[in-house]
Amino acid sequence: MSLGRSHSAWLSFILPMVIIVFLAFPGLSQAETEKSLYERLGGYDAISAVVDRFLEKVWNDPEISRFFIGMGTDTRNQLRQKNKNLMCHDTGGPCKIISRPLEVAHAGLGITEKEFNIVVNHLASTLKEFKVPKPEHEELMAKVRKLKPYIVETKAKD
Ligand code: HEM
Repeated sequence: MSLGRSHSAWLSFILPMVIIVFLAFPGLSQAETEKSLYERLGGYDAISAVVDRFLEKVWNDPEISRFFIGMGTDTRNQLRQKNKNLMCHDTGGPCKIISRPLEVAHAGLGITEKEFNIVVNHLASTLKEFKVPKPEHEELMAKVRKLKPYIVETKAKD
């Protein structure tokens, strides 16, 4: 029977060949083993240090510090942790998102595009401070720039 023959040909010849090729050329499975952005950034501790420094800059910037007036130490610590988890998760790390959806958390704050860009630039300068290589820097910044529609307040249509 042709079906039986092709089945046994698969088991006796093709399958071992596939295994040999994969063993001989481990590069073929590179896509699976390629490191996530999370790993290339240096993992959780690196992300944690970046977020700490980034938020310090944001909170001390006179152009946007008014958004954070009245936040006590515990609230600021929570905001730090929420941002760490978000960055860890969105770069492929093993963290859970513990914050509200960004469009919910920022609704009603009236954040302008200019203010969004100030925050984005603080992240970019922090990544430079931490000497994050260009490919990882660009990849992360592209992800963050895409968040603009969730953060910037759009004027209600008439
Ligand atoms: C650049 C992208 C941004 C990201 C990834 C981000 C991320 C976050 C996260 C994770 C939270 C916590 C939400 C929660 O409590 O569940 C948050 C809250 C907040 N963010 Fe942002 N944010 C961004 C931009 C901005 C900008 C541009 C401003 C103001 C200039 C801002 C001001 C705030 C404030 C005031 C809160 C606290 C809101 C509240 O608890 O009521 N954020 N943000």
